[in-house]
Amino acid sequence: DLVRELRGLADVEQRLARRLGLQRVIVVPGDADVDDTSKKEIARATARFLKEVLREGQVLAVTGGSTLAEVALSLPEESVPLGITVVPGRGGLGEDVELQANTIAAEIARRLRANYRLLHVPDDLPEEAVETVASQPQVREILDLIRRADIVLHGVGTAEEMARRRRLGPAETARLRERGAVGEAFGYYFNRQGQPVYQTASFGLRVEDLAHCGQVVVVGGGRSKAEAALAVISTGYQDVLITDEGLAWRVLELT
Ligand code: BG6
Repeated sequence: DLVRELRGLADVEQRLARRLGLQRVIVVPGDADVDDTSKKEIARATARFLKEVLREGQVLAVTGGSTLAEVALSLPEESVPLGITVVPGRGGLGEDVELQANTIAAEIARRLRANYRLLHVPDDLPEEAVETVASQPQVREILDLIRRADIVLHGVGTAEEMARRRRLGPAETARLRERGAVGEAFGYYFNRQGQPVYQTASFGLRVEDLAHCGQVVVVGGGRSKAEAALAVISTGYQDVLITDEGLAWRVLELT
């Protein structure tokens, strides 16, 4: 439309895609750091994207976060069931319930009239307990769905904000800083080169699983998230970025 044309958004999308080696980039007007409508625009664009790419029989894995929560709210309530299965990317990340992947997966499934499977895992289980839970047959079955998801839709956060939101202690926060963590996605913290340097004790999608998933889509905006997005995309697993001008311009400056 006119706004996109006036702002040269198609050009920014192409430059970013080339620079980051992505299949597709969608940039909406504005900056989520300074105004909330940009986050809603990102969510609407993501909802449209999902409707365009999802096919009967596919598995969609989603993470939590406020951006993904908006995505769920932007999806239209379908009258005809879409024969897909929605699963959370990970369980037990220590987020507020309305921002949890389970909640978001269930809401997306309700709107799309899709099937869903949830991961019920208490937050912050000790490592040994995580392994025991993950090896149960009912849980294994869901993990297998997650690990072969056709579409993975995940948010991105700054390491700093996510550590705060998940109430990491001072020692853990210091460790994150020491290791150069700048970005976070699905419980992993990445340094600028895209190497995972720290991980929350929870389970579900692992970084290496992304190699076996179909399309990996990262969603998030705001200039403040640019470094975080760059870190996460530097893993080399992402195919699509849906963002706003605030993040897009900053990434072009940084690369
Ligand atoms: C978390 C996701 O719940 O939300 C992360 O697990 C993501 O992948 C984070 O980094 C982003 O949150 P928000 O609220 O900034 O969209």
